[in-house]
Amino acid sequence: MFSWKPAYSLGIEEVDAQHKKIFDFLNKLFTGSSLQHNKDTLKKILEELTQFAESHFATEARYMAKFHYPDMENHIADHKRLMDDLKTLDSYYNSGVSDQTIPLLQFMKQWITNHLATIDMQFYDFMKKNHADELNMFGV
Ligand SMILES: [Fe+2]
Ligand SMILES: [Fe+2]
Repeated sequence: MFSWKPAYSLGIEEVDAQHKKIFDFLNKLFTGSSLQHNKDTLKKILEELTQFAESHFATEARYMAKFHYPDMENHIADHKRLMDDLKTLDSYYNSGVSDQTIPLLQFMKQWITNHLATIDMQFYDFMKKNHADELNMFGV
């Protein structure tokens, strides 16, 4: 359901590889919730995703700083919001709420549509316009 496609490519190999891995995590979560995997399994995937997202956001911040991306502050604020969402989701599971599917699906939808497809793409547009020679067009 959540497959990575070339349209998501930023042309920065390291970032694109991480985005693919995030899709893998989302698929694992989706499969887990739809198959009614036990709570511990979901929680473990969620923890791994949270950890991975943190390092992914640090990677993007490194590239944005390197190329003096003017909208870096807003982009990082959005990363922070996503991390907050992940932590909220984590405490939601810890509190023992039984319906595991809906918040996960909402979260995933928000992640993909709002951030990767728009905020990350704005950085790609900036790179294409100002640093096209630095892009390797990986996966395109
Ligand atoms: Fe990203
Ligand atoms: Fe980002």
